[in-house]
Amino acid sequence: MRLKAILDCDPGHDDALAILLAAHHPALELLAITTVSGNQSVEKTSLNALKVCSLAHIFDVPVAKGMPQPLIRSARYAAEIHGESGLDGPALPDPLFSLVPTHAVDLMIDLFLHSADDITLIATGPLTNVAAAMRKEPAIIPRIAGITLMGGAIGIGNTTPASEFNIWVDPEAAAIVFESGCPLTMIPLEVTHKALATPSVFQRLTTAHKTITTFVYELLTFFADTYHTNFGFAAPPVHDPCAVAYLIDPTLVTTKLMHVDIETTGTWTAGRTVCDLYGQSTLPSNVNVGYTLDSGRFWDLMLDTLMTYD
Ligand code: RIB
Ligand code: CA
Repeated sequence: MRLKAILDCDPGHDDALAILLAAHHPALELLAITTVSGNQSVEKTSLNALKVCSLAHIFDVPVAKGMPQPLIRSARYAAEIHGESGLDGPALPDPLFSLVPTHAVDLMIDLFLHSADDITLIATGPLTNVAAAMRKEPAIIPRIAGITLMGGAIGIGNTTPASEFNIWVDPEAAAIVFESGCPLTMIPLEVTHKALATPSVFQRLTTAHKTITTFVYELLTFFADTYHTNFGFAAPPVHDPCAVAYLIDPTLVTTKLMHVDIETTGTWTAGRTVCDLYGQSTLPSNVNVGYTLDSGRFWDLMLDTLMTYD
């Protein structure tokens, strides 16, 4: 039985890989792609989602545009990592299809309220759409089978010393989601920093001579440059497909159930995922937090799925 999923994302180089993995792996049935303001404006992340789907001939998944800025805070982008387009590097043709007219939040609500089957939400951007949907229609909360999100950090952040980008952009939205009671799996930087696109990954991409592997090669080449410039990484971490891969094969990630709070008021710590690793808060556990990754099997899964594209 294929797992039904919605992918909420902000493409974004690594979001593009998440789309390609979620749309083609046989374990998943991707019902919709929803876009959010994050790595770039929601106009740009939406256009990028359409371009990636068009290039990959993913024509059976509706793409819906979502929230243009965080619930309370102003929009903040990551052009230094993803470029002005949000997907700098490869030259992508214009999209072959358009966004659906439904707002992403309304599409999420409709799918969760009216689907006969369980639906899992994969979130690889700021949680603005997810929180807005929960607030607009709280009846969806018990109908969400689970949320697997790329975001947060047990230790050091990547946008501030305290915070990871997806949570930092919209801490208030993250707090709503983390306090919702939905079954949550958080794939933090401790996991995704093990999903490095090393030279052997680039080598495996070059031997395929496919449109999609050439696209990914060019995507990761740009991503490698910005990650080296901004963080000194020798190889770039592809964060977002880790959340999809976990849903496909949970044995790829070791997780620990714990209580996690979201800091929303700290001057220096807003957007921090406060992970109660040792149970010191005595508060009930609300999140399954990943902390290791079998990177070899992750890349086998990612690359094998890319090879299924024409
Ligand atoms: O911190 C990494 C996350 O922020 C990834 O989802 C990346 O795409 C950016 O959105
Ligand atoms: Ca992302």
